[in-house]
Amino acid sequence: MVIKTLELLFFRNYDSFSTQFSPGINFIHGRNGQGKTNLIESLYVLTHLKSFRTSHLTELEMFTKDASSIRANLTKQGVSHLVEIDLKKNQKKVRLDGKNIGYTSDYIKNFFSILFSPDQLVFFKEYPLERRNFIDRVLVLVDRNYFQLVKDFNRIKKQKSSLLRQKAVKDVAVWNQMLSGLIPRIAGARNDFVKDINDILPGIFSHLTGRENILEFHYQGDLDKRTEREESKIYSFLQEKLDMEIEKGHLCFGPHKDQFWLTLDGQRDKQSFSQGEYRITFLALQFSINQLIKEKLGFNPVILLDDIFSELDTGVYNKTIEYIDKRDNQVFITSTEIPSLAMEKGSSYKISKGRVESNSLES
Ligand SMILES: Nc1ncnc2c1ncn2[C@@H]1O[C@H](COP(=O)(O)OP(=O)(O)O)[C@@H](O)[C@H]1O
Ligand SMILES: [Mg+2]
Repeated sequence: MVIKTLELLFFRNYDSFSTQFSPGINFIHGRNGQGKTNLIESLYVLTHLKSFRTSHLTELEMFTKDASSIRANLTKQGVSHLVEIDLKKNQKKVRLDGKNIGYTSDYIKNFFSILFSPDQLVFFKEYPLERRNFIDRVLVLVDRNYFQLVKDFNRIKKQKSSLLRQKAVKDVAVWNQMLSGLIPRIAGARNDFVKDINDILPGIFSHLTGRENILEFHYQGDLDKRTEREESKIYSFLQEKLDMEIEKGHLCFGPHKDQFWLTLDGQRDKQSFSQGEYRITFLALQFSINQLIKEKLGFNPVILLDDIFSELDTGVYNKTIEYIDKRDNQVFITSTEIPSLAMEKGSSYKISKGRVESNSLES
């Protein structure tokens, strides 16, 4: 997948912006606060229809405006597309090749970018919910049935919660029945994904870092230990816990409580990772996802690397460049200084106050 042109209108500090990109590595450089991360964010919105910095789309509109838009020409597997996204008051309108996209799932099932940014890492580190959302986003892409499973789960969760609050004991059983069928399917998909990642992850990690520690990704479905993912056991368990759930007024068990975590030589991230280890393991995880998408779906996501020069030590940075240089992904890298290898390896863009001050493609 390649983003060929980008136009921004009133997006953060870009009032009216238009540029072309190279299909290889694009080096975005400029002083702090000029709009480098904002540019990365617009490319992220283009591929995920949400931001990695805020859940409020209105924040993307320029302070003095009440709407913004992103427009891009891109190609995926040889086919060109025009994408137009209008943002207004927390609403988004998406058009693909001139047609309105009714369901965002139709869009996000087809486009993707891999992101490494300090902002996103904070979310991943701190919040189990963000980890689930992060994994769900990839699964929507690699598992064709997954979006529907999650959608069904959210619908059932809403209905059941409302019955729990009304203390409608008898009516809950039918929803527990539905959950018992759904939970093993969600857990199965998540589990398969983690297994696929683990085929790739340790190798990428040792290549990037030169370290011999074993990096692994783990998944624990909330009910797995107690029910072995068996429908009848899940149903009995949920029925047993009905009194407790009624007392609490919400669902206490299920996929919304599942856990994902990383280990280095068996040591769990929260307990033992340093800041630096979070960065390199997360980078390795993102590159593993990149490889999995290429293997399963045959296309290369766009890779967005925000501030990696200040985030990674020189050895890992060089290995990162070497890794992306060997692959066919389009890449965007931001930094405050223009990297010396920008001249030989790609195009560079100097960003200043929401504009491209100079652009090696045009010079
Ligand atoms: N909604 C917005 N409207 C206008 N300017 C914004 C908006 N959001 C952020 N900015 C401005 O964008 C700048 C930060 O841009 P950013 O891309 O984070 O910088 P950097 O180049 O350091 O990555 C700040 O000057 C900030 O005030
Ligand atoms: Mg930045």
